[in-house]
Amino acid sequence: MLSNKNILITGGSGQIGSAICRVLKENNANVYFTYNRNKEKAEKLAAEIGCKAFEMNIENVPQIKSCIDSIYAEIGTIDVLINNAAVSQILPLSMLDEEDVDKVLNVNLKGTLFVTKHAIKGMIRNKKGVVVNIGSIAGHRMLDVPVTYAMTKAAISGFTIALASELRKFNIRVNNVVPGMIEGGVSYGVPDDLRADFINHCATGRVGTPKEVADLVCFLASDKSSYINGQNIMIDGGI
Ligand SMILES: NC(=O)c1ccc[n+]([C@@H]2O[C@H](COP(=O)([O-])OP(=O)(O)OC[C@H]3O[C@@H](n4cnc5c(N)ncnc54)[C@H](OP(=O)(O)O)[C@@H]3O)[C@@H](O)[C@H]2O)c1
Repeated sequence: MLSNKNILITGGSGQIGSAICRVLKENNANVYFTYNRNKEKAEKLAAEIGCKAFEMNIENVPQIKSCIDSIYAEIGTIDVLINNAAVSQILPLSMLDEEDVDKVLNVNLKGTLFVTKHAIKGMIRNKKGVVVNIGSIAGHRMLDVPVTYAMTKAAISGFTIALASELRKFNIRVNNVVPGMIEGGVSYGVPDDLRADFINHCATGRVGTPKEVADLVCFLASDKSSYINGQNIMIDGGI
């Protein structure tokens, strides 16, 4: 489904990111992914599935540019970008200080924006490409989630629709995958009562798996979704 496509995934060392790398690779994409702190996991995944990992802290804007420049120098172009890297935090508003807020905004918003700015240059040149953002149900429903995380994930929806409009003249589609609660990753540490409450309200009666999210990302990255653009696509089991 993705033969000959060069795909860059941010946060491939994470729970959902690694599932995305695996599924894209199974669908014959050329997979390149980034990691931040988890070098060991990144190198293990890269060796296991046969792809390449790059270190990139998306809080560091100059590092984003130099890393993506080096990826371009190595592979020529990027056909699809998956903006998956993000952080959450468990603090309530009353306990937040400026540093906490900056961290979440810098990774989830500013970092995502600058990764996109630099990664799409080949798509603009080729007048073809796909960007898939990873949002969250936290930005769409009233749930007991950290406000910083929820506000950044709501903002990713705005980023998605404005970017889809801006990039339409280059034939670049931009969509936002919006997962509900998924096993592990940023939902690790969610208290048992909140997890049970989510499952109780979920029509499918369980949390989702990273593979289920990855399968949707794979479809959106492919030409099979050629008429889907500027959308928030919920994958939450029915909330
Ligand atoms: N799990 C869920 O229930 C759920 C639900 C809805 C949406 N999501 C979304 O799904 C995406 C993946 O989440 P996940 O659950 O797989 O989380 P995860 O396992 O914690 O993975 C997060 C990824 O982001 C990377 N990252 C963190 N800070 C970074 C930074 N400063 N620069 C570059 N990369 C950085 C991490 O890299 P290192 O590990 O190498 O540091 C890791 O690869 C996120 O956008 C999240 O908001 C998750």
